[in-house]
Amino acid sequence: VSAADEVTVIRAGKLVDVVTGTVLKDQTIVITGERITSVGPSASAQVPAGAKVIDLSAQTVLPGLIDAHTHLTADPYLSGYNALGVSDTRAALYGVRTARKTLEAGFTTVRNVGAGGFGDVALRDAINEGDFIGPRMRTAGYAIGIKGGHCDENLLPPDVNFTGRGVADGPWEARAKVREMAKYGADVIKICASGGVLSKGDEPGAQQYTLEEMQAIVSEAHKLGRKVAAHAHGTSAIHDAIVAGVDSIEHASLIDDAGIKLAKEHGTYLVMDIYDDDFILQEGAKAGMLPESIEKEKKVGQLQRDNFRKAFQGGAKMAFGTDAGVYPHGDNAKQFYYMVKYGMTSMQAIQAATINAADLLGWKDRVGSISVGKYADIIAVKGNAADDATELTKVSFVMKGGAVIRQ
Ligand code: ARG
Repeated sequence: VSAADEVTVIRAGKLVDVVTGTVLKDQTIVITGERITSVGPSASAQVPAGAKVIDLSAQTVLPGLIDAHTHLTADPYLSGYNALGVSDTRAALYGVRTARKTLEAGFTTVRNVGAGGFGDVALRDAINEGDFIGPRMRTAGYAIGIKGGHCDENLLPPDVNFTGRGVADGPWEARAKVREMAKYGADVIKICASGGVLSKGDEPGAQQYTLEEMQAIVSEAHKLGRKVAAHAHGTSAIHDAIVAGVDSIEHASLIDDAGIKLAKEHGTYLVMDIYDDDFILQEGAKAGMLPESIEKEKKVGQLQRDNFRKAFQGGAKMAFGTDAGVYPHGDNAKQFYYMVKYGMTSMQAIQAATINAADLLGWKDRVGSISVGKYADIIAVKGNAADDATELTKVSFVMKGGAVIRQ
């Protein structure tokens, strides 16, 4: 964290203006303490005497990236039964390392949508209090879902009779669970509207929460000032979640034309994790993912990528989110390749990971663009990221809140 009155100046050769979708040349950014206090052409910039100057005149400068779907406490190589012996406390400590990795990769903000033991809340608070470095975090606590569903723990036999702490059945139990998450530090409510790939004994295409349950969850969450992110691969789960009023659909793998239309009408963001199919199919078995999970992935992976193109071209709002933790933390930017391959320009993919994600997180006032008043969360790459978003896998400079993290 930099001192409140410390002034830093960044000379940007190219600056990606995500608000207008343009690239500006030879810009000067002035940072006072944690915030951006001016940005404009270098030719007319007023540089305060004694300011520290960072020369990025040979680089492309962008706002810090935002990943709207992470699990910082999850280790991809401890999947399936390998994960059962890991305590929530151990998982949270693992998050100390993944938080740093994520930030160093240029992701200055994440929305963490599910963690055991409120490990994400602890990480968020420890980062904010300066115990170690990591991205700004929006946290969910436990993901909420039906008994036996994607958000339950289904690996143990009935003798053990274990139920995950996020399980809530029926509208009132679900409301109570939202209240519990909010009480213990959730900024956002995560629910499981359909089955999943990595869970045992369910199907991605099958709906889990009913419309009635999701209406209760959304009204409770919104009343408490929290947005709702709904895990939903399945077509009917996507429809009902949108109609119930959730703020984002996660995965959205089997979205159809009616779902795309609904998302547009309701202004619902889609957060489609179209990279991690690669990791699941290449490394999943080694990492401990169940054979049934690999089979499920083979059914939804390619459809999700095709539907990403359809949904984007159909006009649905998109925010960048990767499900980091399913694949190794720090590789988040690998998803840009697929976003461009399946229909976005590089600039649109960058906007999904900055201004759009900031909007979804309810943080458009503080992050997501290089604008006066926002936090000085700034990254740079040597290549021309606006023409080739895959350059973002090679971030050379990271600043968070005016403090240089990597140079
Ligand atoms: N957490 C998600 C699930 O288990 C991961 C899905 C990954 N696959 C994909 N094609 N995006 O359902």
